[in-house]
Amino acid sequence: MSDELGFTNMAGARATAPAPEIGVGMLGYSFMGKAHSNAYKKIPYMVYPPPAIPRLVAIGGRDEEAVKEARKRYGYDKYYTDWRELVADPGVQLFDNGGPNDLHAEPTIAAARAGKHILCEKPLARSSQEAKKMLDAVTEAGVKHMVSFNYRFVPAIRQTYELIQKGALGDIYHFRASYLQEWLIDPEFPRTWRLDKEAAGSGALGDLGSHIIDLGRFLVGEPKSVMALTRTFIEDRPLPGSEDRGKVTVDDAFEAVVEFENGAVGTLEASRFCPGRKNHQVFEINGSKGSIRFDMERFNELEVYWKDAPGRETRGFTKVLVTESYHPFWSSWWPHGHIIGWEHTFVHEATHLLDAIVNDKDVAPYGATFEDGYRNAVICDAILQSSQEGRRVEIKYQD
Ligand SMILES: NC(=O)c1ccc[n+]([C@@H]2O[C@H](COP(=O)([O-])OP(=O)(O)OC[C@H]3O[C@@H](n4cnc5c(N)ncnc54)[C@H](O)[C@@H]3O)[C@@H](O)[C@H]2O)c1
Repeated sequence: MSDELGFTNMAGARATAPAPEIGVGMLGYSFMGKAHSNAYKKIPYMVYPPPAIPRLVAIGGRDEEAVKEARKRYGYDKYYTDWRELVADPGVQLFDNGGPNDLHAEPTIAAARAGKHILCEKPLARSSQEAKKMLDAVTEAGVKHMVSFNYRFVPAIRQTYELIQKGALGDIYHFRASYLQEWLIDPEFPRTWRLDKEAAGSGALGDLGSHIIDLGRFLVGEPKSVMALTRTFIEDRPLPGSEDRGKVTVDDAFEAVVEFENGAVGTLEASRFCPGRKNHQVFEINGSKGSIRFDMERFNELEVYWKDAPGRETRGFTKVLVTESYHPFWSSWWPHGHIIGWEHTFVHEATHLLDAIVNDKDVAPYGATFEDGYRNAVICDAILQSSQEGRRVEIKYQD
């Protein structure tokens, strides 16, 4: 019973040896720079004993005043305004790319060639061709590589993975996923880099859709074909810091029907035009033995239905709180019911990568490698192609 008491994961753990240090070079100090820095800072005392202690060596950005402030705020030793210097710093062993999508390939390839391990934000690249070059670079360099598909590190989602792996859902029939936000609903919202194809590669598709595509591959398997539609609702917007308007060159929303190699079928949709939807990522998986549903705004919960659960009078979808000490990642946190949230996914993913680096473990299958990032980009390209050509597109990966 002791593992069900819930008050087992407090400060009792003891380290048997000092943990090695890994020097981190962080590119970008904004949204993801903040989320990743927060994770590195928490690891040494929350994930105890840690596989390695991240040493915050340097942070990079363009604006000197802002990056100087970020250095101070997050506690990095140094800052750089040129990513080339960040990548070349001999104290950096892990290069963390939290820059916009058009800044993923060049610095990441340079870092791999300099022998640095890599964590790169998603989508890995703006196209499958660009992603392939990145995959080739890390493979050739022999460094550890991970794409920040951080939702794999939600305890409830990893628990879903474990349940599917042990056959609890039986044969999988459906994967139905949506990722919806509302922040583009105002036509006067500026045309930032996320609305420019040259900078972002795609819109809602690469930004939000790439996450649910990754979850589909992680949980259900490889897609075989897609049939999709994309739409741009607002064609131009004010350019930031200018009187002019700029063209929106990416999708505002996409809808796709997916066929998986294992025979399952599914739907995927993402949009940033859904009033009231803040960060509404939901999926439901239906199998021959039951169903599992997850909603990001109910981060600590899963809804499950087991077809053969005893007692037909009370059989139905059941809400499960995924916060027991035996649930994934929970040994680092709190007594059961003392919930965690979105920021903790970054703690879990960075810990996973540090463990892979210092103990020479594989990043796959729990973490998304650059191979996963490349395959994800192939699927995004196929969705765009299907929408343009009005036909179903087969998914084909290069070796
Ligand atoms: N995993 C997730 O849940 C998640 C969430 C949001 C964003 N992202 C991804 O993270 C990446 C960054 O997104 P964000 O929201 O943090 O963007 P952002 O616009 O908030 O920040 C981008 C950062 O890059 C820096 N930067 C831009 N150009 C640069 C250059 N030439 N040299 C040095 N620094 C430069 C900016 O100064 C800023 O610090 C994107 O790829 C995005 O898709 C992932």
